[in-house]
Amino acid sequence: MENDEVKIKEDYLKNLDPKEFQEFKLSGLKAEKSENNYDFWFKCLYEFFSSGNYSGTRMLEIGSGPTVHNIATASAYFPYIVQSEFVESNCEQLRKWLRKDSDSLDWTIFLQRVARAEGREDVDAAVPEIEARIRSAVKAVVHADVLNDQVIPKEHTQEPYDLILSVLTFETAAVNLESYSNILGRANRLLRKGGKMILISATKCTYWQVGANKFHCLSLEENEIEDALKKNGFGEICWKVRERPDDDLPFNCKNVYFLTCTKL
Ligand SMILES: C[S@@+](CC[C@H](N)C(=O)[O-])C[C@H]1O[C@@H](n2cnc3c(N)ncnc32)[C@H](O)[C@@H]1O
Repeated sequence: MENDEVKIKEDYLKNLDPKEFQEFKLSGLKAEKSENNYDFWFKCLYEFFSSGNYSGTRMLEIGSGPTVHNIATASAYFPYIVQSEFVESNCEQLRKWLRKDSDSLDWTIFLQRVARAEGREDVDAAVPEIEARIRSAVKAVVHADVLNDQVIPKEHTQEPYDLILSVLTFETAAVNLESYSNILGRANRLLRKGGKMILISATKCTYWQVGANKFHCLSLEENEIEDALKKNGFGEICWKVRERPDDDLPFNCKNVYFLTCTKL
């Protein structure tokens, strides 16, 4: 198992380019029909955060890639957010965006969709507000490795987190069900008791593609995810699933999901 994990990690380090990655995300937006996966996920995120069915101030995103849209709604509710990511060039892109470097990646198209999901009609005015909100909430961008027991640097684990968000990441790092289960155990240890975890991902996904590179993804069924969560101390598991027959995206899957659970 260790050798396979090392191979997957090497592939990300060698072949995952942040700029190509953003183009891949954009092609995902264009390929989809009227309401797409992102609208579904952003709406679910807004419903979760506006429901107030959680407490706390400290949030950790695991596997951010070079993206800021997944924490956009959270930034209105959580004043202390740590973003984390395995590939250093992605971390660097995030830091550039936070500093407003002139050559940083532009996430406007995604943030417009976040604004719409939040019910804003003045989308163009909303985007700079959301950007400012994210920049104020993100306190650090750090290296993450979900295949390592430490996951993120020690100085960021002194206090447990109230909420963990991870989008399309755990399956892309895990080599098999045991490895996936171990990742959930590591996430659990970073959370406080009663803390929430949000997982956004796809079932039965076997690869995801950036340019010519096809990256690994562990194909999982809903019941396998649910069993692994329970085995690792999570309960109150709540699923929202989007059946999506489209097959013209740069990844394959049965459906996409938004899941919330609680550390018991
Ligand atoms: C499909 S991308 C998703 C990125 C982002 N969350 C998004 O929604 O676009 C998968 C991410 O998982 C990260 N990743 C892969 N292996 C990892 C590991 N061992 N630990 C932490 N992150 C990892 C990759 O670098 C990549 O950014």
